[in-house]
Amino acid sequence: MSAIESVLVENRVFEPPAAAVQGARIAGMAAYQALCDEAARDPDGFWARLARENLAWTRPFTRVLDESNAPFYRWFDDGQLNVSANCLDRHMGTPVQDKTAIVFEADDGAVTRVSYKELLGRVAQFANALQAQGIGKGDRVVVYMPMGVEGIVAMQACARIGATHSVVFGGFSAKALQERIIDAGAVAVVTANYQLRGGKELPLKSIVDDAIALGGCTTLRTVLVYERTPTAWNRVEGRDKTFAEALAGQATECAPVPVDAEHPLFILYTSGSTGKPKGVQHSSAGYLLWARLTMDWTFDLRPDDLFWCTADIGWITGHSYVAYGPLAAGATQLVFEGIPTFPHAGRFWQMIDKHKVSIFYTAPTAIRSLIKAAETDEKVHPKNWNLQSLRILGSVGEPINPEAWMWYHRNVGGERCPIVDTFWQTETGGHVITPLPGATPLVPGSCTLPLPGIAAAIVDETGKDMPHGAGGMLVIKRPWPSMIRTIWNDPERFKKAYFPEEMGGRIYLAGDGAVRSADRGYFRITGRIDDVLNVSGHRLGTMEIESALVAKTDLVAEAAVVGRPDDVTGEAVCAFVVLKRARPTGEEAKAIAAELRNWVAKEIGPIAKPKDIRFGDNLPKTRSGKIMRRLLRSIAKGEAITQDTSTLENPAILEQLAQSN
Ligand code: WT7
Repeated sequence: MSAIESVLVENRVFEPPAAAVQGARIAGMAAYQALCDEAARDPDGFWARLARENLAWTRPFTRVLDESNAPFYRWFDDGQLNVSANCLDRHMGTPVQDKTAIVFEADDGAVTRVSYKELLGRVAQFANALQAQGIGKGDRVVVYMPMGVEGIVAMQACARIGATHSVVFGGFSAKALQERIIDAGAVAVVTANYQLRGGKELPLKSIVDDAIALGGCTTLRTVLVYERTPTAWNRVEGRDKTFAEALAGQATECAPVPVDAEHPLFILYTSGSTGKPKGVQHSSAGYLLWARLTMDWTFDLRPDDLFWCTADIGWITGHSYVAYGPLAAGATQLVFEGIPTFPHAGRFWQMIDKHKVSIFYTAPTAIRSLIKAAETDEKVHPKNWNLQSLRILGSVGEPINPEAWMWYHRNVGGERCPIVDTFWQTETGGHVITPLPGATPLVPGSCTLPLPGIAAAIVDETGKDMPHGAGGMLVIKRPWPSMIRTIWNDPERFKKAYFPEEMGGRIYLAGDGAVRSADRGYFRITGRIDDVLNVSGHRLGTMEIESALVAKTDLVAEAAVVGRPDDVTGEAVCAFVVLKRARPTGEEAKAIAAELRNWVAKEIGPIAKPKDIRFGDNLPKTRSGKIMRRLLRSIAKGEAITQDTSTLENPAILEQLAQSN
């Protein structure tokens, strides 16, 4: 791989405002450096101290890091605890017990509040209901729910009884759901009859039925259905139960089941460069430690904050910064069912004003779409609302471009709120490279520096360090507690994908390109180095979309998928398709493209729908038959092809594909 060039030069620096430094948990760069030094001097001592200070253990650990079976690292492995007890029971008898845990705003604007004490009662009751269905420690439960209190309760209830949850985003298709149920060997699915988004009622339960009808879900016994709306749904006798039925007569107390530190708290599927999605397996103790600690460090959480992370529980961000981190930290958080553009594109700003949100954490794609909306309609510009309650802003999911950063800083943060551009991944469990609001000078477009204890570096393909200013591959050289433990059912793939032999087999490879600035050593992420696209902050494997396309066997002979830059979604999916019939043009091409888009939505989910579909008689291939994706990338971007095409079998095809839009 040739060096990844850094093209962007950014000279603006924003020092943390005095108000943000004052009283911060990590106040000033010297305090940050002291923690980094402590971690470097005595990593075991550092992590042991944090794990003792931040988690409640039912059996204290005596071992910190076990590397004997690397890269299958084990943390605190002779200790025991319960994750739900650490998020809920732990606050009982403290002032947090009567504090609001969740402010829920429904799609239609209705607001409900749940205190920590009430949430504990609801989680305990749901845990009892799961146990009454014969579900227990080690079982896998799929959660396919709308955004709301019930989904969080279901996740916490699984944690309480030691069941491992696998949350599947409510936008995924029956096919994607079926694959995940089968791979996880789930015994139950927790779902809702419908979900409400943007004023529309969208089915969930019928998609579960479709998934099961596809076959192979042999381990599945129970489907629990939350009746979100009064709309009727189809019940399968003996298998389906409503929440009301399952909860009836169940006590609101349930003893948390202690589990080993390494017990799998959850599996979360994410896209990889090849084959089917990877079931990223996380631990209990190490994962929770980092979710909780990063609430304190990255968001500098204070007792009176109102925290709002806009991510869905179907993604890792919704795990760490909705379902676990804020609760473990005793925060009050806002949970939103709907979408940012309904009933108007000022909804986020209106909600920040209405609820007095102080920490706001969202994705660049949302910011960019709201910038566009505000530019076309003054009435939805953030200036129409009072955003003075905001203290800290966050960004996650993809690089935030400096223009969007500046807009966010000015128009949302009123030039007084630090922006934490948090770099992390499903696999890292929590933030790994991020500014600290009370310490780090900010540079737009940069996620700045690694958190204490995170040995991030940039290396070449052999694992050799690259000098500052030179691009390379982002790695983390030492294990950390919240890291991925394995890929569910596929330990070999885990080793291959994340701990390449060429680098010695012990260094975590993130899959992103990055460069450090010459002056400050700040990290800037330059994009994925594998065949993974980042669409609206969500990872999509190009292979997955290609497989979905060729699965339409009556129509598609061959397909290649690449990404191209998109103003709003970061990257857009662009598919090159060869049909089993003559290459279509005009209206016919449009109709077939529409059919293929719907097909992909059905196979994977609407987020994977190709934005562009181009038809060709063939694809550009080498003489050995390898598709030349870099040429397709240039065509997708509308660039002239300057690369060497002498190894191409069929150079004329490039012209045809370039004109096929
Ligand atoms: C990939 C991980 C982490 C939660 C959401 C996405 C990209 C994530 C940033 C950032 C630049 C970022 C990377 C990474 N990414 N945050 N702040 N700056 N890139 O989780 O689906 O596991 O995707 O998202 O490419 O590898 P994910």
